[in-house]
Amino acid sequence: MSAEPANESEESAPEHDHSALSKYRNFLPSEVQQEIWSSEFLLFVEGLSVSFDGFKAVDIPHFGIRHGELRVIIGPNGAGKTTFCDLVSGKTAASTGKVYYDGKNITQMDESDIALMGIGRKFQTPTVFDSLSTYENLLLALPGNQHWQDNLLKRESGDEKNKIFEILEKVNLSDCRDMPAKSLSHGQRQWLAISALIISKPKLLLVDEPAAGLTDQETERTADLLMELAEDHTLVVIEHDMDFVRRLGQKVTVLNEGRVLAEGSLDEMETNEEVMEAYLGR
Ligand SMILES: Nc1ncnc2c1ncn2[C@@H]1O[C@H](COP(=O)(O)OP(=O)(O)O)[C@@H](O)[C@H]1O
Ligand SMILES: [Mg+2]
Repeated sequence: MSAEPANESEESAPEHDHSALSKYRNFLPSEVQQEIWSSEFLLFVEGLSVSFDGFKAVDIPHFGIRHGELRVIIGPNGAGKTTFCDLVSGKTAASTGKVYYDGKNITQMDESDIALMGIGRKFQTPTVFDSLSTYENLLLALPGNQHWQDNLLKRESGDEKNKIFEILEKVNLSDCRDMPAKSLSHGQRQWLAISALIISKPKLLLVDEPAAGLTDQETERTADLLMELAEDHTLVVIEHDMDFVRRLGQKVTVLNEGRVLAEGSLDEMETNEEVMEAYLGR
């Protein structure tokens, strides 16, 4: 045998090596048994890309989130962070590649089935029903309560009530229980949206820009809340606000132009020239 197999098959993009992602290579679902990757990773993507009119918004050879991890994804505007969540949650169909979650290939599944499998998502703009009270918003978010008219008329069980009270306590909204959501502060709305997400007990939470537009105090409270949630959920938190990311103190993945540029602590990222260039270069 003459030629060695090339150890880096990304010949189409020679300017970009994927060394930041090398640690994921031993777990490629296409190459190892399902038990091997799924015992380590709750989420794994392989060869995942999406193009919009020829423009690759996301292009990630391999990447994963371990069970129980709180991972922060940062990156400049337009880096592909939200699109990554769209691909994982089934809102957008991938152009190439696969998404594996909880031991299964979920690439072809539709958004509602993926949500039922336990991937919960908080969008950049929190989705909250303004005219309903804080309590009613959570009542509606209970699993199986899609038909809101029926559900606001029916009597909730004692268990459901307790569950809602417990979550309101956790996110510091007990005093706002009967207030219409429209009278909540922006921070409180974010917490309500997060509450609505966790009430159905998802395994993986995708939280897109939870600190956008919040006061400093609300930002701190949000970071603390996410850390609390990380005790019993796996979380992917997308954020722009560096003070917030610092407070979370977790491993950070940097996306830029749809690719993973680097991974490590925030301190490491701040001394990484490529990362700093991506942030300052626009
Ligand atoms: N549905 C879409 N159609 C066309 N272009 C899109 C669509 N969704 C995202 N994009 C483009 O993909 C890129 C990444 O966007 P996005 O994921 O929202 O970035 P981020 O969340 O990191 O700011 C942007 O250039 C954006 O304009
Ligand atoms: Mg975004």
